[in-house]
Amino acid sequence: FVIGIDLGTSAVKVLLVGRDGRIAAEASREYPLSSPRPGWSEQRPEDWVEATLAALGELSAAPGLPQGWTVEGMSFSGQMHGLVLLGDDLKPLRPAILWNDTRTTAQCREIERILGTRLHDITRNPALEGFTLPKLLWVREQEPETFAQARVFVLPKDYVRLRLTGELHMDLSDAAGTLLLDVPNRRWSSEVLQALDLGAELCPPLVESTGQTGTLLPELAERTGLSGQLRVYAGGADNACGAIGAGILQEGEALCSIGTSGVLLSYEGEQDRDYGGRVHFFNHGAPGAFYSMGVTLGAGYSMSWFKRVMGGADYSELLDGAGDVPPGSGGLLFAPYLAGERTPYADADIRGSFIGLDGSHRREHLARAVMEGITFSLNDTLTIYREAGRDIRSIVSIGGGAKNPDWLQIQADLFGLPVTALENEQGPGLGAAMLAAAGSGWFPDLASCAAAFVRRGRTYEPRPEAAASYRELYPLYRQVYEATRSLS
Ligand code: XUL
Repeated sequence: FVIGIDLGTSAVKVLLVGRDGRIAAEASREYPLSSPRPGWSEQRPEDWVEATLAALGELSAAPGLPQGWTVEGMSFSGQMHGLVLLGDDLKPLRPAILWNDTRTTAQCREIERILGTRLHDITRNPALEGFTLPKLLWVREQEPETFAQARVFVLPKDYVRLRLTGELHMDLSDAAGTLLLDVPNRRWSSEVLQALDLGAELCPPLVESTGQTGTLLPELAERTGLSGQLRVYAGGADNACGAIGAGILQEGEALCSIGTSGVLLSYEGEQDRDYGGRVHFFNHGAPGAFYSMGVTLGAGYSMSWFKRVMGGADYSELLDGAGDVPPGSGGLLFAPYLAGERTPYADADIRGSFIGLDGSHRREHLARAVMEGITFSLNDTLTIYREAGRDIRSIVSIGGGAKNPDWLQIQADLFGLPVTALENEQGPGLGAAMLAAAGSGWFPDLASCAAAFVRRGRTYEPRPEAAASYRELYPLYRQVYEATRSLS
């Protein structure tokens, strides 16, 4: 077996996966998130470690495992961008500042002022509040005594790996989300570090996602019931692992992932593809490869809001009948900007809207409009790819948007592309297990691992008439942002 550990924002989920890619056991543990001030989002790194060890203990005690079973490797998927600042003893100096913390607007403007266009040339990304570098600058400015004790920083899953193995590493896919990595050249950027007066020693050693990063410490092997000498592989950012777990490992393939936020992600084989900073561009977990992605902040978030205001029905009741409403929801348009929007507007202040409400509309019109609005927003990212001449040929859909057949058909019609769901979807945890499987030498590369591990299910083909309707409606959706901007 191999183990995939998915260190998420609300919980850690661990998977025990066999050589055929089947899940033999799984376990998860939740941990709290604290928001000491509006816009702040923090977690205690110790909580991640304790939750991970408890989940691993439950996994190894799962009933029905074959006699004499062994684990050959484990690896990680991690929530991205979170700052874990460590002192000389490699213990956290303060709570971790997470990816969804927005306290660093002033530091983002400072980074832009100092680095100008060099920031994009080197890191291939814009300065966003969620990324790690502005968080480092915030601690230096606001908590100078803490910063003075800092020896090195890591990202959330790197801290858990450090505690499991005693070794300090960061993988390239997660390092890409720090704004300190020279993404095309795959090394820390001395230019960015120097420009901001940060010491290079703050950055941990870099490895590939499939690289070995030590073994599970004997006392923890004993505590969790796992074998000693268990090899630990670096792992990757959750979006990279989500893509790997969906088999997005060649040019022309894209992933549509609808969780709280939504992501449209494209595999990139070339380091110099340039979208002018309109989408993120990160190193992939597949050695030498990259991926780009756009983010809809209020994807599943909009749907859960809609469910709440409709009186908390379950999703199948909430969306029942929406598939029978024709494309366009009877003249109703929904813009999912309930929490602002990242791609393509990077606008934290814009808010959502229903436009065109009519006395004849019923719950199913509103339900369809919400699904369409979220998908229109993800189509904004696909449009950036198309405008850049990118030939995306197919999409794999995961997350909440892949659970409802009507929504999958909407995605196919609206994107104008075949959309495939996965069988027994496992999210980024499977990608993490695949990194361990490839690292352990079970497969020559991740693509052959995906051929064995990733089971693709039904494909939804675009229906010509519905696709034509959405092509007409999309320019209307595009107008909503400009038209409502001054109202928000
Ligand atoms: C990506 C991002 C989120 C986090 C969630 O830029 O901020 O998708 O990775 O963990």
